[in-house]
Amino acid sequence: MMATSDLIAPQTCREPATLAAGGPDPNSFDWAEAWYPVAYVEDLDRTRPTRFTLLERGIVIWWDARGATWRVFEDKCPHRLAPLSEGRVNEAGLLECPYHGWAFSGSGACEQIPQQPAARPANQSARACAISLPATVKQGLLFVYPGKAEHAAQVEVPIIGPVEEEPDGWVMLNTFRDLPYDALTLLENVLDASHIPYTHHKTVGNRENAAPMVMEIVESGKQGFRGLWPEGPRKGKLGTQHTTFIAPSLMYHDLTSQQFGRTLTVVYATPIRKGECRLFARFPFKFSSKLPGLFIKLTPRWFSHIGNNGVLEDDQIFLHLQERALEKAGTRPYATILLSAHPGRPLRAGLPQVGQ
Ligand code: FES
Ligand SMILES: [Fe+2]
Repeated sequence: MMATSDLIAPQTCREPATLAAGGPDPNSFDWAEAWYPVAYVEDLDRTRPTRFTLLERGIVIWWDARGATWRVFEDKCPHRLAPLSEGRVNEAGLLECPYHGWAFSGSGACEQIPQQPAARPANQSARACAISLPATVKQGLLFVYPGKAEHAAQVEVPIIGPVEEEPDGWVMLNTFRDLPYDALTLLENVLDASHIPYTHHKTVGNRENAAPMVMEIVESGKQGFRGLWPEGPRKGKLGTQHTTFIAPSLMYHDLTSQQFGRTLTVVYATPIRKGECRLFARFPFKFSSKLPGLFIKLTPRWFSHIGNNGVLEDDQIFLHLQERALEKAGTRPYATILLSAHPGRPLRAGLPQVGQ
């Protein structure tokens, strides 16, 4: 938990985005050609490397004190492919391989091969370099670009627009968790508000509130969609909800109600590999009075995580099993969706599953 002012990272000087996420082919979406969040910066340890898997590719995150920035490398030493994440950040501030001690600076250049003879500096060979991936910090999250490095600066980093546009006055709750189902399954689930009264009965829903739902898609395309649900949740008791999906990994609901003020429900789904993803859930609130915000700020992070995990566990087992059943059954073995404009349709139609 932190105030928004702490979350906004210093803006780096960046060319305006000119390339759409997903690559140039209008008929397919290249999952590698997009920015993904991999960690909240506040959770990273500057003293040691952190391992992660993004789109089935091992990566290592480490703090480069010389460059005063986070670095992300492929988690393979160029020498004998040992995982650099098992190594350390050494006294010189280099990422050091645990196997033979080759050590790398932030660019990936090999600065040290302890065994090499002085007369034959093999470390200067291009083959001795680690592979460095583009990385940037925005709104408190570390984002990585796994596609062509030369495209990264031209592709927009998916951030929470309303928070960026009006940075003052938000209180933000943050959590993350690795889930045993696809990134798309997660996004479909959080975009499908019709399941909430049943799946989340007694946590954040109530079966009594199940009702017909109509979401109007205001605009949609390969890069996502924006939708409007005029009646909104709880049978219209809270007011109109706006929903935004930014392909391939970000969606948020935006609801302003008299009862709670302005509330965003933000979900990033980062694909780890087929059948697994990392969820980043963020809840920016803007209350009409100061008291609830103060209360949230004083709530320990672990306490709100317990509540969030309970909600995720409402869905977890059947999303995991449903995903596998759908895969086994092949194309479209299920009932046609009854909602008149279901947001899952453009999502599933526009984005292939990870690993396909
Ligand atoms: S495998 Fe990394 S130094 Fe040998
Ligand atoms: Fe759910």
